[in-house]
Amino acid sequence: MTLKGKVAVVTGGNSGIGKAVVLELARQGANIVIDYVVHPEATEELEKQIAALGDQSIGVLADVSKVADLEKLIGAAVRAFGRVDIMVNNAGVETRTSVLDTTEAQYDKVMQINLKSAFFGTQFAARQMIKQGGGGRIINITSVHEDWPMPGNTAYCLSKGGMRMLTRTAGVELAPHNIRVVAVGPGAVATPINLVTMKDPALMQKLDAAIPMGRMATPEEIGSVVAFLAGDGASYITATTVFADGGMSPSLSYSGPRAVWTSTTLASSTFESGSR
Ligand SMILES: NC(=O)c1ccc[n+]([C@@H]2O[C@H](COP(=O)([O-])OP(=O)(O)OC[C@H]3O[C@@H](n4cnc5c(N)ncnc54)[C@H](O)[C@@H]3O)[C@@H](O)[C@H]2O)c1
Repeated sequence: MTLKGKVAVVTGGNSGIGKAVVLELARQGANIVIDYVVHPEATEELEKQIAALGDQSIGVLADVSKVADLEKLIGAAVRAFGRVDIMVNNAGVETRTSVLDTTEAQYDKVMQINLKSAFFGTQFAARQMIKQGGGGRIINITSVHEDWPMPGNTAYCLSKGGMRMLTRTAGVELAPHNIRVVAVGPGAVATPINLVTMKDPALMQKLDAAIPMGRMATPEEIGSVVAFLAGDGASYITATTVFADGGMSPSLSYSGPRAVWTSTTLASSTFESGSR
């Protein structure tokens, strides 16, 4: 129970990686604020699971693309639990559109939900952490695509690249306040965002072949990394990204004899499916 008495806010917290993060932080003893925009019944079910673990939680309906909603989210956490110790900027979407065909509306949607929300989520959480004293942790869920191009998903890559620099810059700025800012960069994770790939055995085979560990991650395998980074065991880690990608991104530069991981195979297979 390394997070006993801590208060965590998780955006997009009632599905996929966010849900796994919520449950793992609760298992470690934290009280949780679950941000959501759809499926209130999923939030209610999570609240019951958290209560069964002996912790408290509230669900807050807040659209993180709106700065006013983010402010409301942090305010709700303070009203319910008196403080914010851990902020997880997890909510994210993609449009699967290229630089040639992305509309202004698609661009704005991806940038607002992924990047703008992480920026202002960081700002509001950090202001509260400074006000209450004692430091804090801000964890941004980015992707291998914070660094690795994914043709056909341009705005998504831009947003994750922006979150990479947000993590580094805010991490440096906030270090004197003992607020650590870290990104977690997953490769391919079995969540709703990957349903199309997961329903297609041929795409799954290609994806698995492109991952040195030979499989997607479970959401719980990302949740446990976030919980570690939120805890004191990660007390000297800030302003950087921890990749949890089954070896996917390092294998891009591998040019040895195992031809299954040549960069050409990898680029085409992961472009068509899976990694986010
Ligand atoms: N699954 C993967 O392979 C993978 C890989 C790398 C990174 N990621 C990142 O992980 C994060 C979570 O994705 P996931 O895979 O769990 O998929 P998901 O679709 O289950 O999660 C996305 C969550 O964001 C929420 N959301 C969307 N718009 C929102 C808004 N305006 N306000 C508040 N919440 C909103 C959704 O309701 C959902 O709960 C995303 O940032 C995604 O980019 C996923």
